[in-house]
Amino acid sequence: MPARSPKPPTPASADGGSRLRRLRAREAVRELVAETERPLSHLVQPLFVGPEAPTGRSGPLPAMARRGVDGTAEEAARLAAAGVRAVLLFGIPPRKDPDGRGAWDPRGPVPRAIRAVRARAPELAIFADVCLCEYTIHGHCGVLARSGRVDNDRTLPLLGRAAVAYAEAGADLVAPSAMMDHQVAALRTALDGAGHAEVGILAYAAKFASAFYGPFRDAAGSAPAFGDRRAYQMDPRNAREALRELREDEREGADVLMVKPALPYLDVLAAARRELALPLAAFQVSGEYAMIKAAARAGWLDERSAVEETLTAMRRAGADLVISYFASERANALAGGDR
Ligand code: PBG
Ligand code: ZN
Repeated sequence: MPARSPKPPTPASADGGSRLRRLRAREAVRELVAETERPLSHLVQPLFVGPEAPTGRSGPLPAMARRGVDGTAEEAARLAAAGVRAVLLFGIPPRKDPDGRGAWDPRGPVPRAIRAVRARAPELAIFADVCLCEYTIHGHCGVLARSGRVDNDRTLPLLGRAAVAYAEAGADLVAPSAMMDHQVAALRTALDGAGHAEVGILAYAAKFASAFYGPFRDAAGSAPAFGDRRAYQMDPRNAREALRELREDEREGADVLMVKPALPYLDVLAAARRELALPLAAFQVSGEYAMIKAAARAGWLDERSAVEETLTAMRRAGADLVISYFASERANALAGGDR
């Protein structure tokens, strides 16, 4: 009787499991099968232009620093050299008034900064936020009716004027963030009427009434003096309504659609990616930035890898553009050779 041949090893498939770790064993293979590109070439850095504030670059949240026009242009040139493709400008005027007139002043901080950035960093894309809250004494995103509510339709032409002022200065895309109904249509009409058909619109389409805007409001001095923004920004409970906002802005002529904040709303971003063909932007807002900074400073997490993970998550969920206060630090680290 022949000796029994040894029993062949059980194939992995016979245990009902595949071996997903095979593709993770070696760095080169991991890179080859990666589904999501590293986000560097999609990053947009927000910058605050205005009277320089006491908290400078050494403050606890360096990206919240305000710079003057020259400082902004210098920073933009540095960003461009490090590989950042775009900046998003926010203005803080020297004086505020009830109607936010400073928003469309051609000698205001944003038009002046656009010209200066264009001169210093000609290859950089320049985006300009369009809203009234940084310019109004009451801190709301539009003008007030006698009732104290924000008057949607009287605000629209004012947003249009601001957009035209930024277009004349040379902005590539204007970014309405007031969450007024029909603001995209109003900007498109105003821009085309002023001969700026080439200037695009990056619409804050699904912008939620969020607790994560705190550090921004401190930096811009734009916290509402009374009440809150829940009568115009979206309720965090509503994802289907977010899709209605996104589709509406697409219909009105937006060129890029934004979801904001980013990490708490990746479900909205992913749903938008499945349904819409326009490029999508995710905005990792000031509170998201502050959370990571604070935890890293306390020694609770490694900042660099936490940042990379969150930025990659936005890309994986479907963002084309990633607007983040970490853009600058990320670009510097990558320019310095680490990944
Ligand atoms: C102004 C505006 C805000 C942000 C972008 N544009 C603040 C707000 O709506 O209160 C938030 C950005 C951030 O927190 O980083 N409409
Ligand atoms: Zn606003």
